Amino acid sequence: MQKKITVIEGDGIGPEVTAQAVKVLNAVATRFGHTFEYQYALMGACAIDQTGNPLPDETIEACLNGDAILFGAIGHPKYDNDPSAKVRPEQGLLKLRKTLGLYANIRPISTYPALQHLSPLKAERLENVDFVIYRELTGGIYFGKKTIDEAQTVASDDCTYTREEIERIAHPAFQHAQKRRKKLTLVDKANVLETSRLWRKVVQEIAGQYPDVAVDFLFVDNAAMQIILNPAQFDVVLTENMFGDIISDEASVISGSLGLLPSASIGKSGGLFEPIHGSYPQAAGKDIANPLGSILSAAMLLDHLGMQAEAGAVRDAVNWSLAEGLVTQDLDPNQFQYTSQLGDLISARVEDERPPSTGKRRNRLLSSLTII
Ligand code: IPM
Ligand code: MG
Repeated sequence: MQKKITVIEGDGIGPEVTAQAVKVLNAVATRFGHTFEYQYALMGACAIDQTGNPLPDETIEACLNGDAILFGAIGHPKYDNDPSAKVRPEQGLLKLRKTLGLYANIRPISTYPALQHLSPLKAERLENVDFVIYRELTGGIYFGKKTIDEAQTVASDDCTYTREEIERIAHPAFQHAQKRRKKLTLVDKANVLETSRLWRKVVQEIAGQYPDVAVDFLFVDNAAMQIILNPAQFDVVLTENMFGDIISDEASVISGSLGLLPSASIGKSGGLFEPIHGSYPQAAGKDIANPLGSILSAAMLLDHLGMQAEAGAVRDAVNWSLAEGLVTQDLDPNQFQYTSQLGDLISARVEDERPPSTGKRRNRLLSSLTII
């Protein structure tokens, strides 16, 4: 197969982690006989620096011309600490989501035995934790009318949802639940918010079309607590834009590392694939960031292109690296690989899959590459 992938490296550690995902995609292309053509495009603080615009028109065009988008990270501290900045890196990502109609953000929360000791939760709470968050991505308070009066004393952000916006993400969420453990939890604040009551009503109606899926409803404050107390209860979690932003960050750390989690943003056509983590400016350029979130995002991209076996090969290689202790500094400060080394190891594994590795192989890799 021949596919065009738009690569938006973005800010901070974005370029470094994305480069590893591209290496892994190249390994997939070699092993499975595909051709991937990459188009690089700017977005975020780097785009503001170079063009004055966080999302240049050429980037939108490249995204519209490609089959899928691989994205790194966005944001720079110089904008975070300046509330009066008129142009902000994040505006680029929000506009891209809106322009491409990427209304469903899918964030799988998995746990890895090799990382259990890094989780803030006790080991027994991590048993059977495997859920996926469907976050609505192009509506709600993020995109409502925003006002601030001249004296800068009163500000507002409107939150609006339409039935259609709720239905179009609820259906894929239910369908995904049908393929999993057949449970869907709607997270809302229906005891207070009118938009949440509309979400509940629409989801209750749609539930009739999926009789095999058990549906339950949780207020977002309770959901935030349940994610810590009993994360194994969740299968598919469906929620609106801002609640999804908040609970997905919360859920992402229970695996033991934010650096590992991928996400997909999909819509009518195309899709954007990015790690959940941010731009981590303190680590930029040091070759220490964890590339697994980006590599696993590339696996989600492959799934989206219908390349399930290829995606599986990437996930197997990541599992292998974790099981072998081939990890970046954030996971093991004493014995670690640099970002680019881990990208090389995982690409090599994908390209030339071997039987489960032996201690001998591990020692060879460690002696050649590990910084002790
Ligand atoms: C995310 C991020 C973005 C969001 C920011 C960078 C605008 O936090 O993708 O979760 O809030 O959606
Ligand atoms: Mg977020």
